[in-house]
Amino acid sequence: MARLLIFLFFLAGLAFIMNLNHEKSDKPLAKPERFNFDKAKEAHEKKVAELEKLKNPKPVEKKVEVVVQKGPLVELVSDELKRGHDLYAKCILCHGKRGEGKKSQKAPAVGGQFEWYLKTQITNMRDGVRINKVMNPYVRKLSDQDIADLSLYMSKLPYMGK
Ligand code: HEC
Repeated sequence: MARLLIFLFFLAGLAFIMNLNHEKSDKPLAKPERFNFDKAKEAHEKKVAELEKLKNPKPVEKKVEVVVQKGPLVELVSDELKRGHDLYAKCILCHGKRGEGKKSQKAPAVGGQFEWYLKTQITNMRDGVRINKVMNPYVRKLSDQDIADLSLYMSKLPYMGK
């Protein structure tokens, strides 16, 4: 009896194992692929390129906003200012369009300076009280009115060219 039982167990076990095998064989066997050198090379190059990209990220493009200044630097609302503007044309060479001054000419910023100060300095230079050989030819022939108009205009220019 015991032998019969063992035999039955053995048979059941065998059936079970065979069943497992059967299920396995149902699935298509994965065919072993041959090593494809070209494919591997391609994949490798792709990875290298990706790494390169990570190493040197593209610089984020900064949007530069260009602020365009509209209208004249100084609103020429009076005849004095208009005359001052015209007279200042000769001074731009050294003092800059915005009165910001020029290092190369050793010319200081004159924009936005006090009107009374500019008037005094230009008058003094014209009269030889303040000696400025470079500027002398430009101020020598200025009238008091010219100097007043120039000073008014320059005082309205942006301070230090800003
Ligand atoms: C050839 C260059 C040149 C030109 C053109 C010129 N300047 Fe000057 N200006 C100078 C220099 C250089 C100084 C500084 C002189 C000094 O240090 O004493 C100066 C100084 C001045 C100052 C004194 C500034 C301060 O802070 O004391 C005034 C005001 C001035 N110039 C006005 C004018 C006006 C107005 C004109 C046009 C009519 C003019 N300049 C044309 C070169 C020039």
